[in-house]
Amino acid sequence: MNVIETKELTKFYGSLFWKKKEPALDKLTIEIPEGSVFGFLGPNGAGKTTTIRLLMDLIKPSSGEALLFGQPPDNLEMKRVLGFLPDNPVFSTYLTAYEFLDICAKLLRIPSTERKKRIEEVVDTVKMSKHLFSKLGGFSRGMTQRIGIAQAILNKPKLLILDEPLVGLDPHGRQELKDIILAQKNRGTNVFFSSHILSDVEKMCDRISILYQGNLLCYGKLEDLLSETGSRVHVKHGEDEIIKDLLPEATGTIRLSDGSWELVFQNKPELSKRLKSMAEQNPKALTITPSRENLEDFFFRKIENAQQII
Ligand SMILES: Nc1ncnc2c1ncn2[C@@H]1O[C@H](COP(=O)(O)OP(=O)(O)O)[C@@H](O)[C@H]1O
Ligand SMILES: [Mg+2]
Repeated sequence: MNVIETKELTKFYGSLFWKKKEPALDKLTIEIPEGSVFGFLGPNGAGKTTTIRLLMDLIKPSSGEALLFGQPPDNLEMKRVLGFLPDNPVFSTYLTAYEFLDICAKLLRIPSTERKKRIEEVVDTVKMSKHLFSKLGGFSRGMTQRIGIAQAILNKPKLLILDEPLVGLDPHGRQELKDIILAQKNRGTNVFFSSHILSDVEKMCDRISILYQGNLLCYGKLEDLLSETGSRVHVKHGEDEIIKDLLPEATGTIRLSDGSWELVFQNKPELSKRLKSMAEQNPKALTITPSRENLEDFFFRKIENAQQII
């Protein structure tokens, strides 16, 4: 079953009498299968938070529909298996972390006999045990984010929805939070998180989508989306004939310290065929590794294309 499915999900902000001309989200259709960390990418204003609010039943769509585990967002049973971290969590500053999490646990109807143990478990997961009885008002951004994650995983959710969880954190804080999110994935939680920072996504996600001005530009498995842009060919030391043959076609050459060569080629069908057959004939002399586009190049190429169309 798909964890999340949307069909032409559309949102116009405004009232009946006053509507924005352009939708914040325009006919979003995606399917996210179980078992993935899904990166929902896009620049500011793309419609990420709008989508998440629709999934969390905080706002209603203008048209189209969303399903989580096959159920509409207002299904109460389904809501019990969700964990959610909003984009700018604001918690009551005068509560301690414990008091806050205790209220959340009560709202989630975790039985009183289990509450204390569960709270201790989640603060341990987010490495905040030391600050359990400190007031939230004194917490840094990173600490607040961690308490936000702690409340989101109190009910051992099947799906964790995080809106820009890494924003405003220093590199160390980001790494720690990434590790926490990955640990959730490893215990079988589906994760859906939005980000406008590409490097977050490349290392953590199996699948991504890119949203731009309310339009979905692409989605799929990361490795399928990043196309092969060329190949790197490693030629062993002493294979001068091969080097002489290939050198004119190479767009980059590196002479390595052991006397071997690394040649870079662009993706051209004829050339790729020739390289492949050379490698088959001389498997010891040369090896080919396809080189892939990185996510940053891919992202900006997609957005540039979209700017020309939209
Ligand atoms: N409550 C709102 N009322 C009117 N317009 C809104 C509201 N929330 C968001 N928008 C607009 O919708 C668009 C998408 O915003 P948002 O979903 O917050 O994008 P993102 O999270 O990707 O930065 C933006 O143009 C934003 O100005
Ligand atoms: Mg947002």
